[in-house]
Amino acid sequence: MFHDAVLAAVRKVTGVEKAALHEPEFKGREWLYVKECIDTGWVSSVGKMVDRFETMLAEYTGAGQAVATVNGTAALHIAVLLAGVERGDEVILPALTFIATANAVSYAGATPHFADVAIDTLGLDPEKLDAHLHAVARLERTGCVNRVTGRPIKAAIVMHAFGHPADIDGLAEVCARHEIALIEDAAESLGSYYRGRHTGALARIGALSFNGNKIVTTGGGGAVLTNTTELAARAKHLTTTARISAGWNFVHDEIGYNYRMPNINAALGCAQLERMESYLARKRALAERYRTALANVPGLSFVTEPPCTRSNYWLNNILLDRGCEGEQAAVLQALNAAGFGARPAWTPMHMLAMYRECPQSDLSITEDVFHRLVSLPSSPALAGSG
Ligand SMILES: Cc1ncc(COP(=O)(O)O)c(C=O)c1O
Repeated sequence: MFHDAVLAAVRKVTGVEKAALHEPEFKGREWLYVKECIDTGWVSSVGKMVDRFETMLAEYTGAGQAVATVNGTAALHIAVLLAGVERGDEVILPALTFIATANAVSYAGATPHFADVAIDTLGLDPEKLDAHLHAVARLERTGCVNRVTGRPIKAAIVMHAFGHPADIDGLAEVCARHEIALIEDAAESLGSYYRGRHTGALARIGALSFNGNKIVTTGGGGAVLTNTTELAARAKHLTTTARISAGWNFVHDEIGYNYRMPNINAALGCAQLERMESYLARKRALAERYRTALANVPGLSFVTEPPCTRSNYWLNNILLDRGCEGEQAAVLQALNAAGFGARPAWTPMHMLAMYRECPQSDLSITEDVFHRLVSLPSSPALAGSG
């Protein structure tokens, strides 16, 4: 049976009895750095681990500036605000994404406007987006406006799905033509590159996540990436309750957010990032093993990095052939019953009750992927102890 062949391949590749979808690994200086926070009493939202982690991230990604936050959703919320999105605006984003991308837009009082993904990247499709904008939007003196709703389309968020970089050059070109700001949701793509440049640092503003299921974790955490010191300062201000320096007085000059990453979480992040090359090498080796083992299983293909990119292969995925959608439930059932964490893609945003009425383009590829994709166990430890 089809699902038996997938299960056999997963067993062969992982060489274990059972495996979660993605597990963190703490084999570096995590204990040492966390102990330092506890010993010195610097456990909360200020401290030298936060500064160190931000510097490491800015250097690693090449963004120039990084501001650490409590989680990736908070980083995205701030990224949306930095892009100038205001209450009543619309923001384009892929319908195929984790809920946080859409929620961050809602937190800013704006409306998500869903666009379709390309089958070869699983990220926003630039050509389809361009055609959609030509159909529903017009360029006014103030920028791009949705002709149907009358609302400004202020920004677009490109999400690098499962770690695979989207076609940023194509999207940047379309967004520039329609005068829409570009934001990267790079929550899943730390260690992924598009034409040699790190994702999250390709647009002016990007967001990372360090949730426990990501390639590098701080327990919970995120970061805003940007290439300008002005935007970084604004991100820091907004994430520290907009407090201004006024001696020992508490003075705040606008409604800010308590979004700074605690020092104790940043301590984990510093230790994790030191081992990034080991994680990446093993995740890419695991992907190669899956690709080889699944090559001869009929009725599916293994999802590989798009051309001109280098993916971190955060999650390894198979796409069942068109016509084999009916097997998806059986594959998920067989893998999970055998102890292997396997998941479908996220329920597309436009299928969720609170986002059903949002503006949207044709979303046929999103729905097609939702019915055919299965994510496989992808922890770095499955490719050796590193
Ligand atoms: C695409 C995407 N965006 C945003 C987030 C939000 O990150 P967090 O869980 O750290 O809030 C995640 C992951 O969790 C994600 O996968």
